[in-house]
Amino acid sequence: MSPRFDTTPLTDSFGVTVHGINLSEVSPDTDFPALRAMFEEHSALLFHDQDLSGPDHMRLAEMFGPIEDRKKDERAPGEGPEVALVSNETQGGVTGAMDLHTLHLKANQQWHIDSTFMPTPSLCNILAAKVVTTEGGQTELASTRAAWAAMPKDLKSQIEGRTLGHNYRRSRERISMELANLPLFNKWPAQRWPAVWKNPVNGREALFIASHVYDVEGMAASEGEALVDEVMAFCTQPQFVYSHTWQVGDVLVWDQRATMHRGTPWPYEQPRTLASVCCSMTDSDGLAEARGLTM
Ligand code: OGA
Ligand code: MN
Repeated sequence: MSPRFDTTPLTDSFGVTVHGINLSEVSPDTDFPALRAMFEEHSALLFHDQDLSGPDHMRLAEMFGPIEDRKKDERAPGEGPEVALVSNETQGGVTGAMDLHTLHLKANQQWHIDSTFMPTPSLCNILAAKVVTTEGGQTELASTRAAWAAMPKDLKSQIEGRTLGHNYRRSRERISMELANLPLFNKWPAQRWPAVWKNPVNGREALFIASHVYDVEGMAASEGEALVDEVMAFCTQPQFVYSHTWQVGDVLVWDQRATMHRGTPWPYEQPRTLASVCCSMTDSDGLAEARGLTM
């Protein structure tokens, strides 16, 4: 859509690879408006051969929205958020396959949207590959926009117009109760969001559903769980999924309002490090409308 960059599709239904751009040089009044337009349109942007430093990663993220700070409560006043590492690396080694930290990384292998459990959810995640594995360790995206458009009416009608309850511990309970009981997974009260969000730029609707969902408005727990499972299974069929095998220097940006994502297993003795910065949604990203629908 932008004549400024060459793009090639990631799948038939969503996502593009963007060529010929150095993300370290993007600025709000040069390339960013075109990138943002592609983000709204395609839901996922992939870039190769980037050498994104921590400060440039943060600068790029700030153009999308306020940097999300999950550790605000742990920081001294005046200290800001930093690039987060999604990593199993420790000094001189890797975390053990059953360590709580590895279990937390394994919990990311459930389809989810980041930060639906926070009072302000995330607009996008910008992941940059720093250390990659020789096998496995893909990051997969599923288009909840393409899936919603293709979903049979009878399934749609069961979830449309309802709100969903999200909390962080829900997605960890399925992996390990010891993990779920850690303070990190219990510090935000449960949030409610509409099951379907409308993109304010192009009006296209998408499901906002994740492994963090513990409740469907108006349904008993078992009925709600079965519906969430069915809807998520529909959304994650191969025709709606892109599976990314990482190379060092790849940067992948996704729209949390139109995709779910997950990691895939890898040989846990191998190190794997992705640098991640999430931005928060703002009212004009559709958040004001979503809040209005949950009142
Ligand atoms: C994340 C995430 C999955 C992966 O960074 O939010 O879910 O592939 N990552 O590590
Ligand atoms: Mn995630």
